Amino acid sequence: MEKHKLAICASKIRKEEKDIFLCLEKRKISYDYIDSGKVKFHLYNNHSLSPYRAVLNRCISYYTSLYAMQCFESQGLLTVNHSSIIDLCGDKLKTSVVLSKHNIATPKTAVAFDYDSALELIEEIGYPVVIKPIVGSWGRLLAKISDRYAAESILEHKKVLGSPIHHIFYIQEFMQKPDRDIRILVAGNEIIGSMYRRSNHWITNTARDAIPEACQLTEDMIRLTKACIEVVGEGLLAIDLIENQHGELFVNEINPTMEFKGMEQATDINIADHIVDYLIKVCDS
Ligand SMILES: Nc1ncnc2c1ncn2[C@@H]1O[C@H](COP(=O)(O)OP(=O)(O)O)[C@@H](O)[C@H]1O
Ligand SMILES: [Mg+2]
Repeated sequence: MEKHKLAICASKIRKEEKDIFLCLEKRKISYDYIDSGKVKFHLYNNHSLSPYRAVLNRCISYYTSLYAMQCFESQGLLTVNHSSIIDLCGDKLKTSVVLSKHNIATPKTAVAFDYDSALELIEEIGYPVVIKPIVGSWGRLLAKISDRYAAESILEHKKVLGSPIHHIFYIQEFMQKPDRDIRILVAGNEIIGSMYRRSNHWITNTARDAIPEACQLTEDMIRLTKACIEVVGEGLLAIDLIENQHGELFVNEINPTMEFKGMEQATDINIADHIVDYLIKVCDS
């Protein structure tokens, strides 16, 4: 068995996965693509030797990513990212708890588990507020709530129609940011790219048609990024920052499965190449 063989576990082969495959092929690094929809783990017989040294997670679903990486780890594989990072960063509430414990600036965030308590929190923070599912991406199911009537309506919908995870009310002050946020990509303890995501909409995900633009790193951005790495651990991370009206920076979220086609458009940096560099580093460690 080639002990350095890599596995790429993905739910879908998009351009980004193709770029990673191409990069591995160019460097003559042997790998297998594992389709997360087809993979099976025999937990009752977990001692057979895996042919892989490490697996790169490219699953879109948070839950598949988390549990698939835990299963691979039980077989002795190195995982990128490790399930502990996926667990922490894929859940906005867990991320907020850890960032606030370490005094890393974030938008003011509050949590409640009941309709009345959530409504009280919203009124305490003051309108407008943002309410988000604790697990999710691409700006889906985010709501900007401008008054009490809207708050009652959103909370009621979440309570009646939502699954249990939507009964965890994650509430944030609305940041009066410029028409953009900042995304910083990290591999290990290094920053591999930074960009703005600009939009007329307050939700600035590229999945919602925001335009990626190159962004010059500032000392403040570097400082916040390093603080995040220190707290969540080294891996492949996409750290999203929001500026307030005074230009101060806040960590909005840390994505544990980075999408990078926007960054490649905006900057010409070959992110797939950096990902492969990092995988090699992990395998050699
Ligand atoms: N509290 C906030 N105030 C202002 N804008 C926000 C706030 N939270 C999120 N946004 C905007 O919405 C986008 C998506 O929010 P985010 O929390 O990253 O959810 P997702 O995981 O769906 O990307 C952010 O990139 C940012 O532009
Ligand atoms: Mg986001």
